[in-house]
Amino acid sequence: MPRCQRKKSRAGFGKDLISIRDLSKGEVELFLSEAARMEKLLGMPGCELLKGKVVANMFYEPSTRTNMSFQAATKRLGAKIMTFYPTTSSAAKGETLADTIRMIDGYADAIVLRHPLEGAARFAADLSEHPVINAGDGGNQHPTQTLIDLYSIKKLKGKIAGLNVSLLGDLKHARAMRSLLYGLGMFGAKVTLISPPALRMDEDIIEETKRKFGADVSQTASIDLSGCDVLYVCRIQKERFSDPYEAEKMQKEFRVDLELLSSAPKDLAILHPLPKVDEIPPEVDADPRAKYFEQAKNGVPVRMAVLKLCLGV
Ligand code: NCD
Repeated sequence: MPRCQRKKSRAGFGKDLISIRDLSKGEVELFLSEAARMEKLLGMPGCELLKGKVVANMFYEPSTRTNMSFQAATKRLGAKIMTFYPTTSSAAKGETLADTIRMIDGYADAIVLRHPLEGAARFAADLSEHPVINAGDGGNQHPTQTLIDLYSIKKLKGKIAGLNVSLLGDLKHARAMRSLLYGLGMFGAKVTLISPPALRMDEDIIEETKRKFGADVSQTASIDLSGCDVLYVCRIQKERFSDPYEAEKMQKEFRVDLELLSSAPKDLAILHPLPKVDEIPPEVDADPRAKYFEQAKNGVPVRMAVLKLCLGV
């Protein structure tokens, strides 16, 4: 069959990665075990698994870790990366996402896309012949972050099933949290959702996670870390608020500081997708329980695994 007629299926490999909800547990486990292999490869020079491939990075929203770790992963696999900048490309002249994707699909072997609109990655994948990897679509999904989070938890704690994991912060707008709840439910963690009532996670994803996996998920507005194995914090997603003043008010309500941590378990792991703003003050960084920089470092082997499997190599 000519390449242009190739059909991509959503949940396999050599395919798109749009949502963690498209993956079976076996597929997630494959990503995680491939990431562990990639981590070992990182120490060795001259890995050329993706030699000759070209990856396009398209970020319509700010990014440090996702963008840079995809660049690092691409380079460490021997492929080349092209970067699309919305402010200096024809997007600034009004070119549609659809036309831009059709063009870049002709130039690259895979597209990594971050976009403020929910559903943008799925839309792009429907137009593109080449694999599209969702690097975050609005407040919806962030599947590669969830793979990093699951990988990090497993590495730190040796397992995911049965752990007490608390998700704290802006659960309404944070795509990393929405994706992660589903991933944690899939792997049998017990999840406590901690947020102010106005920033609760949408019921649809909670219900789906409970229905599909029989997950143990509870919600509260007060922080109690007794018995907690993993505390996963995220910032208030200011850019998704219609009233910035409201966002600032919320920002002050939830802080994970040394005082709160003084009574928290000694073997707690504190994770955060980063960037952190005011919700974790800098002095927490030196606490041995703060694992978020380690977590960010795992972004490279995990995204190497994503590129390798999505490109079908
Ligand atoms: C997150 C995102 O963009 O959703 N960042 C990331 O990819 N590491 C979290 C955030 O911006 O708060």
